[in-house]
Amino acid sequence: MSLATPSPVAIMKYYRGKLPLSVLTLAVCCLAFFTLWYTERISSLSPGSVFRPKSCARKSPITKSIHKTMKEIENPDIDDRFEFDPEECNMAKGKWVFNSSITPLYTDRSCPYVDRQFSCITNGRPDSDYRHWEWRPDECTLPKFNPELVLKKLRGKRMLLVGDSLQRGQWESLVCMVEWLIPQDQKSMKRGRRHSVFKAKEYNATIEFYWAPFLVESNTDIHVLEAKDRIIKVDSVEKHAKSWVGVDFLVFNTYVWWMSGLTLKTLWGSFTNGQEGYEVLDTPVAYRVGLKTWANWVDSNVNPNRTRVFFITMSPTHTRSADWGNINGTKCFNETRPVMKKKYWGTGANKGMMSVVASVVERMKVPVTLVNITQLSEYRIDGHTSVYTETGGKLLTEEQKDDPRNADCIHWCLPGVPDTWNQILLASL
Ligand SMILES: *[C@@H]1O[C@H](CO)[C@@H](O)[C@H](O)[C@H]1NC(C)=O
Ligand SMILES: *[C@@H]1O[C@H](CO)[C@@H](O)[C@H](O)[C@H]1NC(C)=O
Ligand SMILES: *[C@@H]1O[C@H](CO)[C@@H](O)[C@H](O)[C@H]1NC(C)=O
Ligand SMILES: *[C@@H]1O[C@H](CO)[C@@H](O)[C@H](O)[C@H]1NC(C)=O
Ligand SMILES: *[C@@H]1O[C@H](CO)[C@@H](O)[C@H](O)[C@H]1NC(C)=O
Ligand SMILES: *[C@@H]1O[C@H](CO)[C@@H](O)[C@H](O)[C@H]1NC(C)=O
Repeated sequence: MSLATPSPVAIMKYYRGKLPLSVLTLAVCCLAFFTLWYTERISSLSPGSVFRPKSCARKSPITKSIHKTMKEIENPDIDDRFEFDPEECNMAKGKWVFNSSITPLYTDRSCPYVDRQFSCITNGRPDSDYRHWEWRPDECTLPKFNPELVLKKLRGKRMLLVGDSLQRGQWESLVCMVEWLIPQDQKSMKRGRRHSVFKAKEYNATIEFYWAPFLVESNTDIHVLEAKDRIIKVDSVEKHAKSWVGVDFLVFNTYVWWMSGLTLKTLWGSFTNGQEGYEVLDTPVAYRVGLKTWANWVDSNVNPNRTRVFFITMSPTHTRSADWGNINGTKCFNETRPVMKKKYWGTGANKGMMSVVASVVERMKVPVTLVNITQLSEYRIDGHTSVYTETGGKLLTEEQKDDPRNADCIHWCLPGVPDTWNQILLASL
C-alpha cells in the first residue's frame, strides 16, 4: 500500500527526543495507524453504500440451557463459576474455546448492514474457524446473547454507540445480531455521515452510531487529514455531544486515532491566531485532557437515573507478528488460530493509555461501566479483516491479497470478535 504520507520512521525521527511511551509500541501503533487512516479515509467517503434491502435468513431461537450443558461437559464434578455480574466478573481472565457447532447469528451476506470493509467472507476469506470460538471467563458464566431479550431491554429506548470505526463495527455487529428477528416492514436503517440510526419499529427502539473518532472535536472528523495536519480540540466536545442528549444507553470508545505518534497537535481555549496556535502535547497527556473534557460533559449533562454510560476499552492491533512468536510472519496475515498463551499481551495495546481511561473514569460523578474487551481481543490475531477488505473504496485484488503487507490488522471481520464485545455489553445492561 503506498501512502502519500511521511513514513512512520520519519515520524519517529521527527518526534525523537521525548519518549514518554515505549518506542516500539508507538512504532507499531504508527504502522497500524496508517492502515487505519487509509481505510478510514475511504470509508468515511462512502458512508451510504451499505443499505442493500434483502430479506434475512431466520434462525432458530437460542436454547436457554446451553450454559448448563457446557458446564457439564467442561467440568462434570464442580463448577463454582457464578452468574455474570459486570462488577464482579473479571472479563480479562478466561479462554477462547473452539466449538464447531457454534454459529454466529448472522453472516455478512444475511445481514444487509455489514460494511464491505468488514465482510470478510464475501471478500473471499477461505477459512472459517475464526467464527466458532466462544469466550469463556474463568470466574463466571457469560450469558449467551439472546436477541429477543435484548430487544425487550431496548423497548422504548435509544442506544447510541459513539466513537471510531471499531465502534462502528461493533454497532453493525449489534444491529445484525438482532435485526433478523424483525420483519422487513418493522425496521429501518438510516445511514448518515456522522449519525446513523437503526430502528426496530414495533419495539420503538433504536440502535444508533455517532462518528467521533476522538470523542472531542478535531479538524479531521469528517474530511480525514494526514496525521501531521491534524489538530485536536481537546477542550471541545459540544458540537458532537449535542447529539448524545436524551439517550438511554451511551456507549463510548476512543483509542487508536490518538496513536499516530508520540505527540499530538492540540488546541484549547480561545487562541487568537486560530489553528496556528496549537500546542504539541505528549500523546497520553492529550488523551487525558480529551477524556476529561468528555468526562466533564457526561458529569454535567447525563442524568444517571435515566441514562447508563459504558466505555469500551481499546481494541488491540496485531501488526507485529513477532509479538506472538511468528518470526517469519507479516502482521496478522494468514493467522487462523488465536494465541493460546495465557495473559498474552502484544505491542498493539498500550497499557499506559488504558490507565488514563481508568483514572479519568474513576473520578467521574456519573458511574461509567468499563467494558474491558482488550485482553480477550488480544488473543484473537485470527479475527482481523486482514486482506479480505477494501482499500481506496475497492476490494483488494487477488494480487494485492497475496501481499501480506496489505493486511488490515486493526479492524475485525463480521461476524467475529465484536459479537463477543456485544455479548458482554448486553449482559452488563
Ligand atoms: C458447542 O456448542 C453447542 C451449541 O451451542 C452446544 O450444544 C455444545 O454443548 C457445545 N459443546 C461444548 C463442548 O461446549
Ligand atoms: C418511543 O421511544 C421514545 C424514546 O426513545 C419516547 O420518547 C416515545 O415516547 C416512545 N413512543 C411510544 C409510542 O412509546
Ligand atoms: C436520582 O434518583 C435519586 C433517588 O430517587 C434522587 O435522590 C436523585 O436526586 C436523582 N438524581 C437526579 C440527577 O435526578
Ligand atoms: C523462518 O525462515 C527461515 C528462513 O527462511 C527458516 O530457516 C526458519 O526455519 C523459519 N522459522 C520459522 C519459525 O518458521
Ligand atoms: C497463506 O495461506 C494461503 C492459504 O492457506 C497459502 O496458500 C499461502 O501460501 C499462505 N501464505 C503464506 C505467506 O504463508
Ligand atoms: C482491562 O483489563 C486489562 C487486563 O487484565 C487490565 O490490564 C486493564 O487495566 C483493564 N483496563 C481497565 C481500564 O480497567
